[in-house]
Amino acid sequence: MLTITNLSKAYDVAPERRRRRSEDGPTKTARKFAVQDVSFDVKAGEMFTLLGPSGCGKTTTLRSIAGLETPNTGTIRVEDRVLYDSDNRVNVQPYDRKLGMVFQSYAIWPHLTVFKNVSFPLEVLSRKTRPNSAEIRRRAHQALEMTELSELTERPATALSGGQQQRLALARGLVINPSLVLLDEPLSNLDAKLRESMRFELKRLQHELGLTCIYVTHDQVEALTLSDRIAVMNEGRIVQVGTPKDIYERPNSRFVADFIGVTNFLEGTVTAQEGRLRKIEVAVGSLWAEAPDAAIGDHALLSLRPESVTVATEPGSQPRLNEWRGSIARRAFQGDAVDHVVRIGEMEIRSRSNPSHSYEENTEVYVSIPPQKVVVVPTEERL
Ligand SMILES: Nc1ncnc2c1ncn2[C@@H]1O[C@H](COP(=O)(O)OP(=O)(O)OP(=O)(O)O)[C@@H](O)[C@H]1O
Ligand SMILES: [Mg+2]
Repeated sequence: MLTITNLSKAYDVAPERRRRRSEDGPTKTARKFAVQDVSFDVKAGEMFTLLGPSGCGKTTTLRSIAGLETPNTGTIRVEDRVLYDSDNRVNVQPYDRKLGMVFQSYAIWPHLTVFKNVSFPLEVLSRKTRPNSAEIRRRAHQALEMTELSELTERPATALSGGQQQRLALARGLVINPSLVLLDEPLSNLDAKLRESMRFELKRLQHELGLTCIYVTHDQVEALTLSDRIAVMNEGRIVQVGTPKDIYERPNSRFVADFIGVTNFLEGTVTAQEGRLRKIEVAVGSLWAEAPDAAIGDHALLSLRPESVTVATEPGSQPRLNEWRGSIARRAFQGDAVDHVVRIGEMEIRSRSNPSHSYEENTEVYVSIPPQKVVVVPTEERL
């Protein structure tokens, strides 16, 4: 549906910095890549998320697709239409790209009614492509119905709740029947509870209408719950693409493992093997992990998700691999879960469990993790 190849976008560095530099020598135009060599495919009907920390290039990628930024290099195709091609000098104007946009910064227009907000993108189409006024009304009403705003059409847009305003922005993005919808942090202005219900709403709409969406967020939980696939970005590049489960359970680098949720990192050396299992010497002793690709002598970085780490006051009934003694250093009640930080020798390990297994500080405990839940993270040295 959408294919992006080798997209790069650089900005000149701030002029003040250049001026200062020019005092000590000849001026060179310094450039910084906001997006570097980014390629990905989005399938029809897919919710594809760009996820990464602030400044990693998500918005720049999305604005390039929308035609609001001109990339330095690369191609952007939607189905068989070329929207941008640096080699062949193709650059379709934003309003001719027929994409729906819901940007956080493009909030609703306060001086217009709900209805006018939604009909506006159709009103401003060039005469050639603009539907007649009856058709504009029909389509605006349809978009308002989809987003459950039909009762509010004549209200000034400012007299809406946060969630209603967000739905209005969505209705405005959908009214042109876009082949692709671009959403940049569309829920970030909402409070936690509303955000969560809007996520479900958005997912429902996407399924019902069969929308293809690119969703930008720096919120891992949002990305994991909403997406069919996630592309994790760091410093202008895509570092991993996969389903939420892939990304969470099989991160391909320390960066991804660390960025997606909370984890415990341990480092060690592989010292023995038995079938698919490898024994890894770490600071607290040894640990078995399912890691058929690791060889004896390899350095290994391990990620242990807190929800895979079990804490108990009794040892396992059968002798277990990966069981250590420790004591509870801290406890934090989370409502639906309880977090423990367990001290094992010099090290601290985080565990998350059902609140029925909650232990006071200094309780002596057994900590365990099944070898299948120990994730061996590829490290830069091995890549
Ligand atoms: N118009 C601009 N001029 C110069 N630098 C820019 C411009 N727009 C963005 N940048 C820089 O490009 C990089 C990527 O910015 P971008 O807005 O794409 O990040 P982002 O991933 O969307 O971050 P956030 O999560 O904070 O919205 C940043 O370092 C930013 O400072
Ligand atoms: Mg952004």
